[in-house]
Amino acid sequence: MAKPVLFVTRRLPASIEALAARDFDARLTASDVAIPDLLARAGGADAILCCPGDVLDQAVIAALPDTVKAIGTFSVGYDHIDLNAARARGIKVCNTPDVLSVATAECAMLLILAAARRAGEGERLVRSGGWQGWAPTQLLGTQVSGRRLGIFGMGRIGREIARMAQGFGMEVHYRDQARLPDDLEHGAVFHDSDDSFLPVCEVLSLNAPGGESTRHWLNAHRIARLPQGAIVVNAARGSLVDDTALIAALRTGHIAAAGLDVYNNEPALDPGYLTLENVVLLPHLGSATSETRDAMGRLVLSGMAAILAGQAPPNLVV
Ligand code: DGY
Repeated sequence: MAKPVLFVTRRLPASIEALAARDFDARLTASDVAIPDLLARAGGADAILCCPGDVLDQAVIAALPDTVKAIGTFSVGYDHIDLNAARARGIKVCNTPDVLSVATAECAMLLILAAARRAGEGERLVRSGGWQGWAPTQLLGTQVSGRRLGIFGMGRIGREIARMAQGFGMEVHYRDQARLPDDLEHGAVFHDSDDSFLPVCEVLSLNAPGGESTRHWLNAHRIARLPQGAIVVNAARGSLVDDTALIAALRTGHIAAAGLDVYNNEPALDPGYLTLENVVLLPHLGSATSETRDAMGRLVLSGMAAILAGQAPPNLVV
C-alpha cells in the first residue's frame, strides 16, 4: 500500500527525517526558514508538518488541497494555526505537548538567572576585551533566592518552572483561570485576580499560551502594578507582551531587567530591545535540546500517522 504523502515545511533533526521517510512518502526540505509557497508545495499531500512561524491562517487553510487530512505542528503552541478553519475543513491538528516542558522550563530559568545576574552584559564585557578584572561594584545584580516568582499560566511548563524555582529558594505565586489541585500546586500560592498577583511578582514569568485571549496581556497598566525593579521573562509567546510598554519600563528602570526568548513578529523583533543593556535576548530556544526535539518529532509524526489511520491520538488538538 502506498504511504501517505507528508509535506514537511522545515528541515528536521536527521533521526526524525529518517523516521518520516520510513513511515510516510515524505517531502522533506533543506530549509530552516518558513517556506513562502506553502500552498503550492502542499499539492497532493495527505498531511503537513509545520512549525511555529508557518502561518496557517483562515485563508491558507481554506485554500489547502482537499487531500490534506492532518496538520501536525512541531511545537506545543498552535497559535499559528486557525483551528476553526481546520475544523471547518475537517482537517485534524496535533502538536507536541509534555515532551518539551522540562526543556522550556530550563530556558525560562536560564532567562531568570541571566536577567537577574546581568549575564548578557557580563558576556558582552568579556568579549569586548574591555574587562579590567574583578571589582566590588561591577555588574551587581539581584539574588533570586528568597524572591517571589509570579507565574502567569500554570500549565505543564509553568509547573516545571515552579518546581525548579523552588529549588533555587524562590517563593512561587501563580495566576491562572482556576486553582490547581494540591498535588499539582506543590505549595505555590494561587491568585484569582491581577490585583493580588501583580504586586507580589518580583520576578514575573509569562507561560500562558499565545492567541487573541492573551494578546498584549503584559501591557502598560499591568506593568505599572509590578513592584519597582521587577524582572520579566517570557519563554512562551511574544504576543503576550506589549513591546512598547515593556521597552518604556525597561528604559525608566521600573522593570530592572527582562529575559526574552520569544517575540512579536519573529524574527523581526522590536528594535528597541536591541538598544537596551538590561535585556537578555535568545532566539526562541525554549525546546532546543537534541533529546527534546527528537521526542517532539516522534510525537508529532505518530500523531499524524494515527489521524490518517482514523484514530484520535493523545496529542490531538482538534
Ligand atoms: C513550542 O513548542 O510552542 C515552542 O515555542 C517551540 O520551541
